[in-house]
Amino acid sequence: MSDILKSYQDELDKLSQTGNLRSLKQIDEKKFKLNLSTNDYMGIAKLGLSVPEEKGMGSGSSRLLTGNFIAYKQLEDELENQFGSPALFFNSGYHANIGILPALASKGDLILSDKLNHASIIDGIKLSDADYHRYKHLDYAHLERLLEKYRSNYKRVFIVSESIFSMDGDIADLLKLIQIKKKYECLLYIDEAHALGTRGEKGLGIAEEQNCLSQIDLLVGTFGKAMNSVGAYLICNAIVKDYLINKMRSLIFTTALPPISIAWNLQILKQSRCMQQEREHLQRLSNQLRTALQKLGIETGGDSNIIPIMIGDSEHCKQVAEQMQKLGYLIFPIRPPSVPPNTARLRLSLSADMKWADLKELPEVIKNLLSS
Ligand SMILES: Cc1ncc(COP(=O)(O)O)c(C=O)c1O
Repeated sequence: MSDILKSYQDELDKLSQTGNLRSLKQIDEKKFKLNLSTNDYMGIAKLGLSVPEEKGMGSGSSRLLTGNFIAYKQLEDELENQFGSPALFFNSGYHANIGILPALASKGDLILSDKLNHASIIDGIKLSDADYHRYKHLDYAHLERLLEKYRSNYKRVFIVSESIFSMDGDIADLLKLIQIKKKYECLLYIDEAHALGTRGEKGLGIAEEQNCLSQIDLLVGTFGKAMNSVGAYLICNAIVKDYLINKMRSLIFTTALPPISIAWNLQILKQSRCMQQEREHLQRLSNQLRTALQKLGIETGGDSNIIPIMIGDSEHCKQVAEQMQKLGYLIFPIRPPSVPPNTARLRLSLSADMKWADLKELPEVIKNLLSS
């Protein structure tokens, strides 16, 4: 083995020794009685919706060239109609988050980011020329202290947070963040990846639920989770939209999504608007499970359909997940770097097509596995 290959193998060995090695597995979902790992939170896959008639599985080029099919305009118009401000659509949430901040924030600007923000946001921050600091998770007093200290040194300041946090299931206080961004004249960037479809009366997310849609400067959402599709949007001011079309590298330098995916997204978006009963059911189910877990003394948290089971040690977490798989639950260990060191966990993600009967044995099962 060459020295170069050996250096990579050594790193892999280290990951393996700490229980953090990852591999791609072939999963046959049919072998499991319950999928606790899907982000198809609204059970869209099981609705049996027909695929829209739309030509083209390929798009041929970037949106800036020939890839900007009519389906894009229809989808962005519908998003604008529902959210009340212009929309710009991207290939994925990852594309959105690694492209927006590097385009909008440059030298002389500052980004303040919640410590538990998703890797795609962190990567976007690192790609931008702006300075950045992380504030303690959901600690808005800390955020204000940072603003007191640094605001006057910078031209533009961006505050960035997820709304529902992907690995903890807890929720940002958007009204508090809006109050802070106004006080210190900042721009507020919120990622609703895990809230689109599941929260708000029309399923538009936590900003709709907290009644502050129009006050968020940069509102991102993804179609890869509760929409069970692919792609992401930004809701923003028309000037920002024009600016990104000119400056955002992960929009400009990538092949557009195929028209069929965009037409499918439009169909799901309209469908999602009418799924309020399912959203209420999902919320009730999640609260019921969280309460049952807490009653057995299991360490959990959050306030959404993402329910973490805190374990800590990666190897232990991996073993518990494997045992659960043997019992028919499709679940994976969530380990660093997806979560901070020593906070490995199971992440139960509930879907609206589940019933309490599917879940009621889970707390006992988990309790037994954790103590064995
Ligand atoms: C908060 C958050 N933002 C963005 C993304 C990336 O979205 P996508 O899967 O569409 O690339 C994820 C995906 O896990 C996420 O959890």
